[in-house]
Amino acid sequence: MDDLGEALTSGKDRLRMMGGGNPDHIPSIQRLWRKQMEALLDDEGNEFDRVLADYDQPAGSPSFREAVAGFLQTQYGWDLTRENIAVTNGGQTASFFLLNRFAGEMTDGGEKRILLPIVPEYIGYGDQGVSDNDLFDSRKPLVEITGERRFKYRIDFDNLGLNDSHGAIAVSRPTNPSSNVLTDEEISVLRGLASEKGIPLIIDNAYGLPFPGVVFRDATPVWDDNIILILSLSKLGLPGTRTGIVVARPEIVREIRSMTAIVGLANNNVGQALVRPLLETGEIKRLSNEVVRPHYQARSEQAMELAEEFLPREVPWRVHESEGAFFLWFWFENLPISCRELYLRLKDAGVIVVPGEYFFFGLNADGWDHARQCIRVSYTQPESIVRDGFRILGEVIREVYRTS
Ligand SMILES: Cc1ncc(COP(=O)(O)O)c(C=O)c1O
Repeated sequence: MDDLGEALTSGKDRLRMMGGGNPDHIPSIQRLWRKQMEALLDDEGNEFDRVLADYDQPAGSPSFREAVAGFLQTQYGWDLTRENIAVTNGGQTASFFLLNRFAGEMTDGGEKRILLPIVPEYIGYGDQGVSDNDLFDSRKPLVEITGERRFKYRIDFDNLGLNDSHGAIAVSRPTNPSSNVLTDEEISVLRGLASEKGIPLIIDNAYGLPFPGVVFRDATPVWDDNIILILSLSKLGLPGTRTGIVVARPEIVREIRSMTAIVGLANNNVGQALVRPLLETGEIKRLSNEVVRPHYQARSEQAMELAEEFLPREVPWRVHESEGAFFLWFWFENLPISCRELYLRLKDAGVIVVPGEYFFFGLNADGWDHARQCIRVSYTQPESIVRDGFRILGEVIREVYRTS
């Protein structure tokens, strides 16, 4: 993480930053936030003063919660009120609260773990457990070869092993790092299994539907009383406002509200104030569908072309089907060094990526080479940086295989 921050803030010329999950600065979206901020400043009802000078309620601003519930109800017909919506300081805080609520040491003295039905999974969950024991019980994916240079992960339902030690099932959709979008069928099976066991299915929608909507394949968003959705304003271009949104049944929302009050008293409310009008008009959906998604899809296609251009034919590289989010996930079969060593060599050569091994937490990956053969490459930086990054990746990886 230090590398990622350093590359973004200081070494831009020297280091090509292709590691982090920062959203691109899309000009029309940047202009929109300015416009929303100006409207807030001009508001004669003094909303700007209220935003800055009043603590927000710990569950979030009632009008924002109402706007989220109304928007989701209009879009999908879900039976929601503001009692189903809690705001948190980013999706990251929401997952911290939820993962620890449903796993770790329980108040009855027992232990529960979160079942991750498929890894690689979001690195940001990895260290979130507050109890001493492992928070996660993870499963390897099925690896399906989908083209000459392509592959895709699928949930291995035959080896899922859901049992009474699991307090919840959790997935991100699209998944960071692989960009995998779990199919409607996979989600439907997980939903059924969770409900049979009486445990929640937590779906992290940081890049997903309905906003920011960075999903490049068909996928249907789902919610019911047994599903907990985590949404975020970050990937819409507002990570600085730290706004996460939990959609859940009311008692879970009340627990989140209490946790926010205890940990941080209240949330940042600037993002809520900027985005509420876009939820009320439904404009947020149009922006997600017509601006944000096409932008990232074009960046993804460009990155795929650069991979074809610069990655050597003689190297057995594959890339996960690009289905959403901000990353390409490369798999180098028979990689002669570990992906961590590859990361270090790339860093020396001036490009930062994230070594894949850190995304395979919650399982013993000893003897499973795949977990040491992947890297995550972000394509949200300016095109010249991404191009340069792929050129360097091509040179370094050629050398790694040539000298092995
Ligand atoms: C899958 C996933 N979930 C959650 C987050 C956290 O985002 P935020 O706390 O900015 O909402 C991220 C950030 O990169 C992410 O990739």
